[in-house]
Amino acid sequence: MHTFKTVSDIRIAPGGAAKLDLLIEGLSSNKRVAIVTDKGVRSLGLMDSGIDALESAGFDVMIFDQVVADPPEAIMQEIADGIRAFGAGLVIGFGGGSPMDTAKVAAHLAGCDQPLETMYGVDNAKGPKLPLLLIPTTSGTGSEVTNVAILTTGKTAKKGVVADSLYADRVLLDAELTLGLPASITAATGIDAMVHAIEAYTSIRLKNPMSDALALTALRKLRNNIVQAVNEPTNLDARNEMLIGAMIAGQAFSNAPCAAVHALAYPLGGFFHVPHGLSNALVLTEVMKYNQPKADHWYAEIATDLGVGQSGSALVDEMLRIKDATKVPQTLTEVNIPSDAIIMMADDAMTKDRLLMNNARVMTHEAVVKIYETIL
Ligand SMILES: NC(=O)c1ccc[n+]([C@@H]2O[C@H](COP(=O)([O-])OP(=O)(O)OC[C@H]3O[C@@H](n4cnc5c(N)ncnc54)[C@H](O)[C@@H]3O)[C@@H](O)[C@H]2O)c1
Ligand SMILES: [Fe+2]
Repeated sequence: MHTFKTVSDIRIAPGGAAKLDLLIEGLSSNKRVAIVTDKGVRSLGLMDSGIDALESAGFDVMIFDQVVADPPEAIMQEIADGIRAFGAGLVIGFGGGSPMDTAKVAAHLAGCDQPLETMYGVDNAKGPKLPLLLIPTTSGTGSEVTNVAILTTGKTAKKGVVADSLYADRVLLDAELTLGLPASITAATGIDAMVHAIEAYTSIRLKNPMSDALALTALRKLRNNIVQAVNEPTNLDARNEMLIGAMIAGQAFSNAPCAAVHALAYPLGGFFHVPHGLSNALVLTEVMKYNQPKADHWYAEIATDLGVGQSGSALVDEMLRIKDATKVPQTLTEVNIPSDAIIMMADDAMTKDRLLMNNARVMTHEAVVKIYETIL
């Protein structure tokens, strides 16, 4: 049996975020709206005209901008408490994966009495949550259409809440919001989206025909536009294709989950705060080479679909070319990770059962250490 779920209301409208009053129609009868974001996104002024539109239409708006990258659980709880105290009827997550994940969990915490510590893992968050609108400003995580939120627990560990109750009620893709995204973030988040599609297509446990079709479509859009989006930041067509590609990749991996690339990437973010997309870019091609004995035929299908060759190695080579062309760092040393951290990171990566159980080839501690050593 195959099951496929996604957000049922997705709107693609460059410039649409300026008309937030129209966009939220039908989501809640309560006129208090909570916006969850980070200080960087807020300072860019991306939501200003949308907030003006809401206020002119008689809505009360409260902004929670204390989200930080790889959001810690304490911030989610603090924002949820604030949303409750404000009496919001609608939560809007506005930003990259960090604000969107925070909005998902905060809307959940504010909408029911379930304690956060009981939500971690798969299908443990039950809801109900407050109505939720998500508006991405990076083209990467696909969080706007996934049932996943990633939190930092304690000092370094990253944990996931995975549950259908996290799906947003509505999504807006407004590519104008991404025009100012710096080249390094465009590159890293774009590669993150490509990893989502590659891992969905090769996910052994829940691979399904809908995710396969979406993964291939996503990869075509992302591969054909990533270099242009990095080099010509204000090219709206390239930005729109990247945003749609990242969203479609999110739909794919929300149903055919990610695997070892993400498992090996998480310790880089958890221990050393390497941005999520960059962590994935760093480990991607070596994990693909490790997986080739089991996943080569799938890599070859993707390469053929992209028109870059007919072998699995052609896809590995294409991803190496994209990493070069978008100038992402290629070694752990470049992101200040020392060799004596490798064992600790490998220990941590091996705890990511939620991801490793989907990997095409069984991952061993020894293999993880070798992969980290190769990219040192
Ligand atoms: N829920 C999921 O399905 C899922 C999937 C993958 C990753 N994640 C999580 O998402 C987070 C990473 O998200 P991300 O990569 O989108 O980065 P992010 O949300 O952490 O943002 C990175 C930086 O980009 C800035 N930024 C965002 N939009 C901008 C814009 N339009 N212009 C200029 N700057 C902008 C932010 O202010 C921030 O400084 C991690 O916590 C990761 O674990 C979640
Ligand atoms: Fe990711």
